[in-house]
Amino acid sequence: MSRPTIFITRLIPAPGLKLLESTCDADIWIDELPPSRDVLLERVQGADGILSLLTDKIDAEIMDAAGPQLKVISNYAVGFDNIDITTATQRRIAVGNTPGVLTGATADFTFTLLMAAARRLVEAERYARAGRWKTWGPSILLGIDLSGATLGLIGFGRIGQAVARRAAGFDMRVLFHDPTTSPVEGINAEPVDLDTLLRESDFVSLHAPLTPQTRGLINAGTLAKMKPGAILVNTARGAMIDQQALYEALQSRHLFAAAVDVTDPEPLPPDHPLYTLDNLIIAPHIASAGIKTREKMSVMAAENLLAGLKGEHLPNCVNPQVYGD
Ligand code: DGY
Repeated sequence: MSRPTIFITRLIPAPGLKLLESTCDADIWIDELPPSRDVLLERVQGADGILSLLTDKIDAEIMDAAGPQLKVISNYAVGFDNIDITTATQRRIAVGNTPGVLTGATADFTFTLLMAAARRLVEAERYARAGRWKTWGPSILLGIDLSGATLGLIGFGRIGQAVARRAAGFDMRVLFHDPTTSPVEGINAEPVDLDTLLRESDFVSLHAPLTPQTRGLINAGTLAKMKPGAILVNTARGAMIDQQALYEALQSRHLFAAAVDVTDPEPLPPDHPLYTLDNLIIAPHIASAGIKTREKMSVMAAENLLAGLKGEHLPNCVNPQVYGD
């Protein structure tokens, strides 16, 4: 029997790659930068499966270019806003993602950002390197205490819950807003409406998927409702924040600080005004970038792709409607 043909849009870690190469004819885009749109359109031609990254826009045009034999698209990410799920479902193309394995790494990194913003770590490091550290002083580089502060989580799925568990270790009070999730036994977090969360939280952290409802959720109006001196953290998707409004809230010092792992667009152009703010930390979308986490993601993405190629249910499928059961 002939081996299925797949296109892998970047070099993923070896464990997942090995699984795929042992049973498929794999065409792999090995550059550090993503394939251009034209390259993507060309290289997917004839593929039975595509392993995509969040940097690849997989829409009807790409599915057309691949051809009617395309059975499965496996995204090497938990988020899948880069894929046109409606079109994939209409064409009975199964789409997979990698939930669960990156929950811990993302929650850890949320706290990395939260603490770095609260305690001005990046600013302090620059201060020391610039030779400005002349003495210990009672009011040098003062930040915000975590202990006893209120943390508001927008989105209370796997990652939001993992952040709440970590917050317990810092003696924080946790609120959450998530129309799709109820309180979880064993996690001390109180459900509230969005306005209450914004009004009462010293820290607000985003953990919802990017959808038409969450796009631009943090805008001039919602930022104005946040507590003066609060801190905003985003490890979800950049487009959840209106960046001009964030710039203004930080420049006016209405917010004490913000820390984002995601921006819109990505990468953020080097001359973007957000880089001029000393109370904003910008990380290049690395919340899941733990070595073991990325290996597990590669295996999960490979297993989804292999199942789809065999016509089996994907272990992690985002459009199970394709099975019609
Ligand atoms: C995801 O998986 O959606 C993250 O944003 C990257 O790991």
